Amino acid sequence: MDPLRIEVATPSRAYVITLGEGVLARVPRLLDDLRLPERRFVVSSPVVWRFHGRAIAAVAGPNEPILVPDGERFKALQTVSRIYESLLKANADRASTVVTFGGGVIGDMAGFAAATYLRGIALVHVPTTLLAQVDSAIGGKVGVNHPLGKNLIGAFYQPHAVAIDPSVLATLPRREFRAGLYEVIKYGMTSSPALFDRVARESRAIFGKKSQVLAEVIAESCRIKASVVSADEREAGPRRILNFGHTAGHALEAVTKYRRYRHGEAVAYGMLVAAELACGRGALAERDRQALADLIASLGPLPPIGDITSTQMLEAMQHDKKMVNGRLHFVLPTAVGATVIVDDITEKEIRAALVKAGFKR
Ligand SMILES: NC(=O)c1ccc[n+]([C@@H]2O[C@H](COP(=O)([O-])OP(=O)(O)OC[C@H]3O[C@@H](n4cnc5c(N)ncnc54)[C@H](O)[C@@H]3O)[C@@H](O)[C@H]2O)c1
Ligand SMILES: [Zn+2]
Repeated sequence: MDPLRIEVATPSRAYVITLGEGVLARVPRLLDDLRLPERRFVVSSPVVWRFHGRAIAAVAGPNEPILVPDGERFKALQTVSRIYESLLKANADRASTVVTFGGGVIGDMAGFAAATYLRGIALVHVPTTLLAQVDSAIGGKVGVNHPLGKNLIGAFYQPHAVAIDPSVLATLPRREFRAGLYEVIKYGMTSSPALFDRVARESRAIFGKKSQVLAEVIAESCRIKASVVSADEREAGPRRILNFGHTAGHALEAVTKYRRYRHGEAVAYGMLVAAELACGRGALAERDRQALADLIASLGPLPPIGDITSTQMLEAMQHDKKMVNGRLHFVLPTAVGATVIVDDITEKEIRAALVKAGFKR
């Protein structure tokens, strides 16, 4: 079957997401057709390269892959510096293309390297985790963590192309797969009742990585992200709805020093907190909150939160990037598939919602 093409049209660049089984083998052709610079450097991690390197090796031609570690704690300027060094040693010039091949950590770091090396060279993302395929490879956010906070150093730098091959997910650990699915639920809850229902109805086929169903779920997620970022590249307005679940989610990651939860797992809790907040104000029907809670629970257990206090969470939220002029912006669901952004949530409301969601008083 021919791969799907999904267009992303931001003011700074328009590009296409090519999605389908076997797309990996087509990447060299794809880049040739786009006339992307011919000196190509694949940046990947040892784990990803061991599993799938052979399938993409043709992209790089004679150039050795640049392999860097991909844990969240390596998502730092030091690792980006190693990528610069490899590019410099190989004499990479303006006529070079960086192809990122890994999860969100590799995509964000190597994307940042491409955005800044010689003030910017061509960039292509080939994401290999579900989270990266449905989320981080699209929309141009690249960057690294700083010891004082996550994703504090970065840029908006749209790729020239994104190539998604769901078959690489066969080797993805189940927990990582679930972590990506929570972001899919986020798209359903903010923008698409049909996608929400689909994850609920067909979770068995999705977990079984049945290619057709999985490809469709990824495609629908990509379409939603593509349309949101096309309308608002720099998150001045509509793109903020993608932060649903991320205010409390980021706080939870920070409180636990990015060790206990995968990002998607923290977002799952964040969505539950936002839903409690919305119910508390009468903005969301209890039935819809329950539907969200049930769907999240149906995917499997989340690491516990019972030892984390609402005070710890509140403090972490104060440091969030979503604070604007001292006010916390919250994306609240109003139904499955609809949201509203509010900035008048009180501390008391947040505390009540946190406790209802299972945090310690
Ligand atoms: N740029 C954005 O818009 C954006 C959006 C969401 C998240 N992010 C960032 O993405 C990062 C999280 O990304 P992630 O969840 O992909 O984590 P990750 O990149 O750390 O990958 C998770 C794990 O999966 C392994 N892996 C990757 N592909 C594999 C495969 N096909 N088979 C087996 N193992 C594989 C990796 O080695 C790693 O251990 C965070 O740093 C987050 O900030 C960025
Ligand atoms: Zn996220």
